[in-house]
Amino acid sequence: MTVFAAYSPDAGALAPAVVSLRPATKGDVDAILRIEVAAGRPAGSVGSADGYRRAIADPDRCVLVAVSDGAEHPVVVGWAKTHHHTDVADPAPAGHYLAGITVDPAWRRRGVAAALTDARMQWIAARCDEAFYVVNAQNRASIDLHTRWGFTEVLRAPRLTGVEFEGGVGMLMRASLDR
Ligand SMILES: CC(C)(COP(=O)(O)OP(=O)(O)OC[C@H]1O[C@@H](n2cnc3c(N)ncnc32)[C@H](O)[C@@H]1OP(=O)(O)O)[C@@H](O)C(=O)NCCC(=O)NCCS
Repeated sequence: MTVFAAYSPDAGALAPAVVSLRPATKGDVDAILRIEVAAGRPAGSVGSADGYRRAIADPDRCVLVAVSDGAEHPVVVGWAKTHHHTDVADPAPAGHYLAGITVDPAWRRRGVAAALTDARMQWIAARCDEAFYVVNAQNRASIDLHTRWGFTEVLRAPRLTGVEFEGGVGMLMRASLDR
């Protein structure tokens, strides 16, 4: 089963969601896991709570949550992280990567992922002059999402940053950052 959003380039955006972004805390891990399950991530592949806690505590990574502002009780509706890739073991070069983003299916197509990506791109731009991400070639929604930051394809491989791609093809994408 794929967890990719159905590709619908002509669907058009809905009314923008009223959300605010903030750095994730360890108290957000349950919400992150809830969103991964809601997005259809198969049991056993949603990542461990400890892994998310380590990412949140790592000063060399940017882990953000998007929180709905409109509701009486604010709720986490999306999250995203970066990864500083240093242990090069496949064609993906060292560098800062956009490394995971999921929006609650009930909140999609309202600009939440774009906001989370813009904030992470600013975080990376403060540290270096290029950004990367890897993506399954079948995940066309994700590829379209990232185009506005100028990402272009560098190469394709079955394994990138240690990730093996379901279906066999991953894409390495790169964008220059104007410092
Ligand atoms: C991909 C994902 C993060 C997008 O989240 P989102 O909040 O709905 O995205 P946004 O509303 O910010 O969309 C911004 C742009 O991305 C593109 N986009 C987003 N979803 C799309 C879809 N289903 N089909 C085609 N383009 C899409 C569009 O260009 C969109 O602009 P538009 O709405 O004005 O046309 C979300 O669908 C998701 O969580 N998917 C599952 C996890 C995943 O695949 N993560 C990426 C791994 S690399």
